[in-house]
Amino acid sequence: HGTSTINAQGHLEIGGCDVTSLKETFGTPLYIVDEQLVRQRCREFIDAFKQTGLKYQVAYASKAFCVKAMCLLVEEEGMSLDVVSDGELYTALQAGFPPERIHFHGNNKTPDEIEMAIDARIGCFVVDNLVELHILQAIAAGKGQKVNILLRVTPGVEAHTHEYISTGQTDSKFGFDIGNGSAYEAVKLASSQSNLQLLGLHSHIGSQIFEVDGFQVAAERVAAFAREVHEGLNVVFSVINLGGGFGIRYTEEDTPLQVAEYVKAIAESVRTHFAGIGPELPEIWIEPGRSIIGDAGTTLYTVGTTKDIPGVRKYVSVDGGMTDNPRPALYDAKYEALLANRAGEPETETVSIAGKCCESGDMLIWDVNLPEVNQGDLLAVASTGAYNYSMASNYNRIRRPGVVFVKDGEASLVVRRETYEDIVRNDLVPERIGRQMV
Ligand code: LLP
Repeated sequence: HGTSTINAQGHLEIGGCDVTSLKETFGTPLYIVDEQLVRQRCREFIDAFKQTGLKYQVAYASKAFCVKAMCLLVEEEGMSLDVVSDGELYTALQAGFPPERIHFHGNNKTPDEIEMAIDARIGCFVVDNLVELHILQAIAAGKGQKVNILLRVTPGVEAHTHEYISTGQTDSKFGFDIGNGSAYEAVKLASSQSNLQLLGLHSHIGSQIFEVDGFQVAAERVAAFAREVHEGLNVVFSVINLGGGFGIRYTEEDTPLQVAEYVKAIAESVRTHFAGIGPELPEIWIEPGRSIIGDAGTTLYTVGTTKDIPGVRKYVSVDGGMTDNPRPALYDAKYEALLANRAGEPETETVSIAGKCCESGDMLIWDVNLPEVNQGDLLAVASTGAYNYSMASNYNRIRRPGVVFVKDGEASLVVRRETYEDIVRNDLVPERIGRQMV
């Protein structure tokens, strides 16, 4: 998919770049991002919203993959940006992302983070709870500023892939509950704070969702709440943010909808359920992360050792693993792979792909069909763009891989591979330790 093909040499080519030469230049493991596909996904969201005739903002959820080049790319595509920490905010600001299009999320923003974001004059805080509401009001007042906020509410909908669960009273660490009156009280309080401008509500129902019904039920419940608030408190919301969670394809079992189908269903629900609540329909905001970057990413590994246990399984070890992709170990996530240097060859064996960490759970794929795999082969694991680099670690003091953006035959490093120096950069040795050696 995207710009991936198999070239005449039988090599995987992404963005016009032969991955065997990417290995030569950048080494492995390497995250490869199909830049054109990322741009296409951004445009699919924006174009779909344009067709709805509603006002909108599409904020890229930077937690999926947050580096400076990515912030600028989505900026260029007309997106806003969702950040959840000072580190993501710092990255965006360093990149030169327009602060007024940054939205700040999180259930425990520290006073320092809040101050940093107010000073940067970001566009909106998504307030999660009462403690935050008070801190935000106090800090904004101290600075003589008025800040835009949304209140995060839990509409009692939890969506996972195919099903959504209607939970009524939601047991979640996030947001104000619509069901028990706490959201109502929060609106009352927020709308009376002199340094807060309450724009509207936010709801996020889950991730890797393949159907529209969860979003529709969430929109309906948020609308019912907005109507209650309009009637009871005379508060009108100008923004409704329905979060992210649009699913992508990892393996053939995954059946996501087209981006446009999600957007269309959301717009229709908003039109239906918000009609007549205020003088006009609210602006719709959404926050896709995975669906922007997920399937545009490929991780390239070099095969090292193999272990064949006759009648049981053949383990094929690669030069990365749970340090660059913790998702199989954390979530039992499934991935597909191919031999990138012999991509056209028939699959003759079923093997399991192991990482190099000192841990039995460090498996990337159980059972994948490949041509006979040998040391030195290149393995490409697909759909690793989201929540891979951003969740990578230095476990076993393994250096995090570099990230390269490829487009039209050009490969540009956007994150360099960590060095040994980086590994010990923050280490300090106290005076009293290690002196006996001399
Ligand atoms: N907005 C909010 C408030 C969120 O909590 C999230 C994801 C998103 C947007 C973006 O969701 P997306 O479109 O990417 O599904 N580490 C996990 C995923 C955690 C998602 C957390 N919140 C994984 O690797 O699957």
